[in-house]
Amino acid sequence: GPPPHASLRGLLWLLGVWESQPAGEGLYPPGVAPFSFRETATFTHTGQPLLEYTFYASHVESGRPMHRETGFLKPAPAEANNHHNRIAIINAQNTGLVEVGEGQVDGESLTVTSHTLGRTTFNKQPHVTQIQRILRLTAQGELEHVVSMATETSPLQQHLHTTYRRRGN
Ligand code: HEM
Repeated sequence: GPPPHASLRGLLWLLGVWESQPAGEGLYPPGVAPFSFRETATFTHTGQPLLEYTFYASHVESGRPMHRETGFLKPAPAEANNHHNRIAIINAQNTGLVEVGEGQVDGESLTVTSHTLGRTTFNKQPHVTQIQRILRLTAQGELEHVVSMATETSPLQQHLHTTYRRRGN
């Protein structure tokens, strides 16, 4: 395929197919027991100035599909003294939630915080009011993903922690 667009230079560490190992850990909401899940994360590109990704979670024992997300990581256009380190996430979830957020890349670490959430009129309550994500490469070459969220009834707190290894490694 085509080479990655120059604006993706700071994001190449994400490319590939990643499998959770160990299982992802979920916390929250209050009253719900901590849970585990399996997740496959895929980051690809088409030559356009953005990454395409999927996060597909499944049940640890049965493999039954659970939470699913897909979207884009889109660097802001370069400006003076800005080498594409500002980044947007445009994300759709199978729960009916849509997330647009922004943040920055610092080395092999990316942080984005939602500024806009959309949902169906029949989404489950409590509604999510904020999502924050940290994606980073560890010193061991693993991908780490921490997702925090706030809802109408709870402050921003961690929901998910996943460590992935590159498929084939
Ligand atoms: C619970 C949102 C990702 C599994 C919840 C709740 C919210 C929520 C608001 C509590 C209320 C409810 O049950 O709907 C989100 C958001 C996510 C996300 C915004 C992504 C940014 C995931 C992922 C998994 C997952 C990847 C992996 C399987 C669960 C489970 C519960 C839960 C098992 C416990 C409640 C239940 O059993 O229904 N999530 N979630 N979530 N979430 Fe997530």
